[in-house]
Amino acid sequence: MNLIKKAKNKLAASSYKDQASLEITYKCNLRCKTCGLAKVAKEKGSQELNTEEWKRIIDELFVLGRRRFTLIGAEPLVRPDVFDLITYIKDNGGHCSITTNALLLGKGDTAERLVRAGLDVMSVSIDGPDESHDDIRGGTDVLAKVKDGIAKIIEARRREATSKPSIRVHTTVSAYNYDKLARMIPLAEDLGTDELQFQYVSETPKEAVTATRYRGDIIGSERFLSLNGSALLSDGQIELYGHNLAKIRSANSKIAVRTGVLSALNEKNLRTGQFPMKTCRIVPGLITIDPYGECVPCAHLDYSFGSVRDESVRTVLNSERYRDFCEAIKGKLFPVCAYCCSHVNNLTIGQLIKMGITGKL
Ligand SMILES: C[S@@+](CC[C@H](N)C(=O)[O-])C[C@H]1O[C@@H](n2cnc3c(N)ncnc32)[C@H](O)[C@@H]1O
Ligand code: SF4
Ligand code: SF4
Repeated sequence: MNLIKKAKNKLAASSYKDQASLEITYKCNLRCKTCGLAKVAKEKGSQELNTEEWKRIIDELFVLGRRRFTLIGAEPLVRPDVFDLITYIKDNGGHCSITTNALLLGKGDTAERLVRAGLDVMSVSIDGPDESHDDIRGGTDVLAKVKDGIAKIIEARRREATSKPSIRVHTTVSAYNYDKLARMIPLAEDLGTDELQFQYVSETPKEAVTATRYRGDIIGSERFLSLNGSALLSDGQIELYGHNLAKIRSANSKIAVRTGVLSALNEKNLRTGQFPMKTCRIVPGLITIDPYGECVPCAHLDYSFGSVRDESVRTVLNSERYRDFCEAIKGKLFPVCAYCCSHVNNLTIGQLIKMGITGKL
């Protein structure tokens, strides 16, 4: 397939008009060095939506033509009703993915229940091939537990005679693992996973947060402020990172290896954490609902279009508040958008073509 066609297909697949991201909880059993979600969530407090409320919202989303659901959070597996929600989406003919730290995957019959529920895709975050994973994730035996959990999923898939869920290893690239990236390929292969993908860490400077205003209010989220010193690559780390990236690009792996946005980032982007963002497809496309029922634009913006706990999803999407915001973002991105964690989904066709030439989409 030629590059233009490949890039166009990628854009078409990422219009998000049939997708919804359900942040089912902000509770988490880890405290990763790169992630400020637990801190922000603690400050928010308030009661999370219960199972019946989520099912009602899922029903409404189906009526609105959404059928591809991602269950995410903080850590979705800490919710005991996660199996019930997956089953509900699958029984209604939907597609369901989950993004997890996999710490609980090996516990009891969790793996078995996820396979039986019909989960389509499981994205497992692994940030290092060795003890660096535990160090980044802030726990002990985390990688060992993740490996055990993945083995149990593969075993459960075999028993149920299914290839689902497909297992995707997701690595967030940072100053904590830049020198070990190529070693993620043999790890992902040995674990028997189906895909390995990389993303560069998002880190928003405080000035960008405070400069992100809408109708007079600061709406930049503090979720991506650096936590314990910067996780971005420094000058002295870029060369070794480059060697790792080159190895990944030229690797002849039996699994799909995607360098994602790494292929589009130059040294300045790596050092500053600023991505070449020109457009936002997420906000006007994807519907994101937080654990408290707020319909929100994305992880970087503290703004709500309305509460779907109190109102129907349709009412919120038909509101002036929602329409005005989508129009605003089409006209001009916010300062925090330069640090967008969904940068790979917001690239323009020109950027995608360039990446197709220099790396793997
Ligand atoms: C916020 S977590 C939620 C799901 C789950 N708890 C997990 O860790 O996979 C979603 C993804 O964001 C990644 N992540 C964490 N900190 C990040 C950062 N500062 N920039 C970009 N991605 C980050 C995680 O590694 C994970 O793959
Ligand atoms: S990255 Fe995931 S596992 Fe780590 S603290 Fe954030 S939500 Fe929890
Ligand atoms: S940070 Fe900006 S570009 Fe990224 S999803 Fe949010 S609004 Fe869109």
